[in-house]
Amino acid sequence: MSADVPGSRFAAGGADPYTRMLEGGRDGVLQLRRLTNGEIAEEWNFVALGGSADRDDLAALGAAEGPVLDVGCGPGRMVRAAAERSSAAMGIDVSPAAVRRARAEGTPALERSIFDRLPLEGRWRTVLLMDGNIGIGGDPRALLLRCHDLLAPEGRIVVETDADRDLDERSLFTVVDAAGRESDAFPWARAGWRTVVRAARDAGFSGAAHVRSGSRHFVTAAVPRRRPTRTAAPATATAAIQSPASTRG
Ligand SMILES: C[S@@+](CC[C@H](N)C(=O)[O-])C[C@H]1O[C@@H](n2cnc3c(N)ncnc32)[C@H](O)[C@@H]1O
Repeated sequence: MSADVPGSRFAAGGADPYTRMLEGGRDGVLQLRRLTNGEIAEEWNFVALGGSADRDDLAALGAAEGPVLDVGCGPGRMVRAAAERSSAAMGIDVSPAAVRRARAEGTPALERSIFDRLPLEGRWRTVLLMDGNIGIGGDPRALLLRCHDLLAPEGRIVVETDADRDLDERSLFTVVDAAGRESDAFPWARAGWRTVVRAARDAGFSGAAHVRSGSRHFVTAAVPRRRPTRTAAPATATAAIQSPASTRG
């Protein structure tokens, strides 16, 4: 698939730097490059992402109740951390290499998109969107609506956000490694905490709150005991990107 075709899978195609990194078992930095102007929007440090949960990860997890679903789990550090704290935790990821690597460490993970049919729909107690995964699919509102449907009444979502509180970017990006190997383009979003608080309320969550740990920012919110009627989608929400799929500060 060529780099200018929207809807490519996250960081795949082209020179496939994410898969190479996962399969090579190497740590490294991957950059998120905006297709329109070639600028680097973010960097992901996969030393931290592939390893163990750090202090800020654990603070974000808090007293998360199981079952916990980590969406876009990569090699599964948050699934392992959640499993140590709650009765059950599982990750999902569209990257076969990420799922293989998670499973190789004994971490429960399914090769599945968040937009696919999943086990325990409507019964998860906690859903995690860490490491900028609010970007998945390029439409935070659609993603939050999907997460809302996956959660049980009073279930909670934990979303890592950008520090730039009003950031609200939906675009096509590629991923590039240190050697310049670049993926095909895929839709992704970047959102600050105030943007996510608003989007969570729009998606029917209650009690949306901003939590800071170290230099990282999170939004937590809950599904009300009784699910409310949702507000209509703003006209602009679906216009940018049809296909559904940080630097840590
Ligand atoms: C920024 S990386 C986060 C990596 C991960 N949290 C970690 O600990 O390494 C985004 C992850 O989301 C996954 N992803 C992208 N689209 C997805 C989708 N539609 N459903 C599930 N996972 C997806 C990617 O394959 C990738 O592993």
